Amino acid sequence: MKSPGSRLANKKFFIHTYGCQMNENDSERISGLLRDEGALPEDSIESSDIIIINTCAVRQKSEEKFYSLLGRLAELKRKKDITVGAVGCVAQLYRSGLIEKKPVIDFVIGPDNYGQIQDILAKQTDEKIVSTRWRSEWHEVPSHIVHRNGKTSAYTTIMEGCDNFCSYCIVPFTRGREKHRPERNIVEEIRQLAQGGYLEIQLLGQNVNSYRDPETGFPFEHLLEKVNRIEGIQWIRFLASHPKDLPPSLARTMKEAKKICHQLHLPLQSGSSDVLKKMGRGYTKEEYLEKIRMIRFHMPDMSFSTDIIVGFPGETDNDFEQTIEVLKKVRFTNIFSFRYSPRPRTAAAKIDDSVPFAAKRERLLVVQDVQKQIQLEHNSSLIGKTEKVLCLGKSKKDPQRYSGRNEAYQVVNFHSEHDVIGQFVEVRITSCGPYSLHGAIKS
Ligand code: SAH
Ligand code: SF4
Ligand code: F3S
Repeated sequence: MKSPGSRLANKKFFIHTYGCQMNENDSERISGLLRDEGALPEDSIESSDIIIINTCAVRQKSEEKFYSLLGRLAELKRKKDITVGAVGCVAQLYRSGLIEKKPVIDFVIGPDNYGQIQDILAKQTDEKIVSTRWRSEWHEVPSHIVHRNGKTSAYTTIMEGCDNFCSYCIVPFTRGREKHRPERNIVEEIRQLAQGGYLEIQLLGQNVNSYRDPETGFPFEHLLEKVNRIEGIQWIRFLASHPKDLPPSLARTMKEAKKICHQLHLPLQSGSSDVLKKMGRGYTKEEYLEKIRMIRFHMPDMSFSTDIIVGFPGETDNDFEQTIEVLKKVRFTNIFSFRYSPRPRTAAAKIDDSVPFAAKRERLLVVQDVQKQIQLEHNSSLIGKTEKVLCLGKSKKDPQRYSGRNEAYQVVNFHSEHDVIGQFVEVRITSCGPYSLHGAIKS
């Protein structure tokens, strides 16, 4: 702790996180910064003095979840003296407008300004504070301060922001332009994590393939090779990759650097080249399939996951059929599928949307149904086989039931007589569902 006399000392705080892994990692940083001032984490909103909501703006629904939580907080604030902060992507998007619209909020901080959170909270003033200035330099939170949620697998953010401006996407307006973290800081953080016993690292960024060390200009592959050499780290993953920025050199690095998992999240969005063009994705259906072929040529055991948007403005039945065709061709291990949601400031929000809501809903159900069958077939083929699993936790109900992930990043639930949390184990798969594998530890 820095200063026992800090105004934050012994204040109880709670952080509620919506959105992606980067938001989770940001919350780990914010939690660390507050603990460093002597503030105390609580596990419920009701018992806290300071409530911070880390928000996501990617779809209308994510925004609405946040507003409904604010309703609950407004009620609590009538009974109790609490400070409510909005941070993250919705905060950055609406800035002071958010406080005008939702007066329960006391402060608003955007992702570029988390380094100021202790100062903002330590101020004794009733004035509302808004800190959403864009910064072009990387703000480094020392690794030892970050308070991580797990002890085995850790997130490390390597770049933030996006220069792609896909026509549907709000992220460039909430995370700003790309900022790349110096390679030596990343490597140092991962070294420390390895010394602290972490076995798995997930490198995060909106578009990790475009990473360049701001000091040397070395590409993402160079960083991966360095992380691969860090003693103690066993598994390396990264997300998200953009199909247009995935060169054969990355496939070669993935093949040669033995710790990099043969698992890749490669967002497709749509299987129709016409829709991809309107989305501004920078690749066609054929080019996407060619990338998959190229990677599978180098690594036949590669497991792919993807993101799909259905019901983009103007998407025809034929466009949609092509998405289904790609799902059947690639046979992803897992997908995240969404109904298109128009977002403020994006180019697509200005296009007339002729696709009826009922069609969008129906298409989402079809995508999920087709994919469920693919996953069920794939998972069934693993029954009787042995999977290497990194155990990450255990069931609250059954003390001999553990849970982890295999190299393909699938959830594996298994039986074990010993506590194996934080260890690699061999699990024999005995049954499965579409979304998880089940088995028992091999003795
Ligand atoms: N940077 C990453 C992730 C972006 S957000 C990438 O480029 O892949 C995660 C996913 O949310 C996207 O891949 C997309 O499938 C979905 N998404 C983004 N904007 C959306 C919108 N307006 N409506 C529905 N889904 C959206
Ligand atoms: Fe959004 Fe596209 Fe950037 Fe991903 S690459 S964050 S989908 S603008
Ligand atoms: Fe959401 Fe922002 Fe992440 S919009 S998906 S929290 S980058």
